[in-house]
Amino acid sequence: MCEAICYREAVFGSRFGLALGNAFADFWADSLLLRNHCGVVNTVPGSSVNPVEAETLSKIEVLSDLEPLVNELMASHEAKRVLWFPAELLEPPPGEDPDRHLKALRERARGISDPARVALALNLLTEEGLPHFHRLLAVYLGTDSIWAKWNNLWTAEEDRHGAILHDYTRDAGVFDPVVIEKMQFEYIKAGFEPEWDRDPYRVFVYTSLQERATQVSHANTGKFASQYEPTIGTVLANVAKEEARHYTFYRSVFKAVLERDPNQGLVAASKIMPAIDMPGVNMPHFRELADVVRRAEIYGPRDYLRIVEELIKYWSIDTMDGLNDLGRAAQEKIMAIPARLVRIADIMEQKTKPKSFAFDVIFNREFAME
Ligand SMILES: [Fe+2]
Ligand SMILES: [Fe+2]
Repeated sequence: MCEAICYREAVFGSRFGLALGNAFADFWADSLLLRNHCGVVNTVPGSSVNPVEAETLSKIEVLSDLEPLVNELMASHEAKRVLWFPAELLEPPPGEDPDRHLKALRERARGISDPARVALALNLLTEEGLPHFHRLLAVYLGTDSIWAKWNNLWTAEEDRHGAILHDYTRDAGVFDPVVIEKMQFEYIKAGFEPEWDRDPYRVFVYTSLQERATQVSHANTGKFASQYEPTIGTVLANVAKEEARHYTFYRSVFKAVLERDPNQGLVAASKIMPAIDMPGVNMPHFRELADVVRRAEIYGPRDYLRIVEELIKYWSIDTMDGLNDLGRAAQEKIMAIPARLVRIADIMEQKTKPKSFAFDVIFNREFAME
């Protein structure tokens, strides 16, 4: 037994020790003592590992066990990826006068409707929240394994999403440029601490949902805004395709988690799936901005419902059996989510009355929505 625990400490302790936050500092200090103890006496004071710590250790083992799969998923992700860069999509084609190119873009972009501008603002800010997510992945998955390599690759890809939306909207004059940058500043300054309770499994549930949600939102915004200005359609189609590939990665990882640890996997999913907190929720006007996007049918509770149903099916949550009490309770909770989301969407739609909006980020013009 000592051997097994010493091994776990050696393999996982250094990699994930820092990753699990302050409350675990003592635990990892204990683990270190335990290792010394093992080295000398070859016995283990089993009482030093309480059930919560044991649960965390077993999750860490599952993550370690998944490393070969992550390697494979990363290789196939990179093999399929078409790596584009913001300047390639936005710069004038060779031979075209840059000033003329920019002037023509600005002229076309004048037609972009206010609801489409609101959707672009929310999409841009969501992408620019990347520092929050890079940090969360590093904290929950560690900084010296294949998980860190994935985090860095994913961050490099995501960084282009915020960059291209910032550059496009600046070139095209979509926003008051200072207002959008101040919103971004406040949003990053506010931090983002989702209630993941130091559970690394929740990272994969959240990221699966969020990648798919951003894919839908970018694709719909692109279709909507490109009626007026086609470049934004191309930009957002490229971004949405990349979100789809990230979604494939995260949902595959979580499927493998469920195969290895179905009960704890379901518990994690049942905590996240009812609703995902968007980091921008505390931003000024966030709810009104989201209301506009819902009314424009770009992204709303019915889209979230479809994503939840899709993941329940992909993860085979409805047909999982052989669960313990905890797993069965979590499964029931998850299976009740779609009906609850339908009720929320129904109520929201029934309560919706025509309303006027005005936001300083889009020059305070008043516009009305059904
Ligand atoms: Fe993105
Ligand atoms: Fe993504």
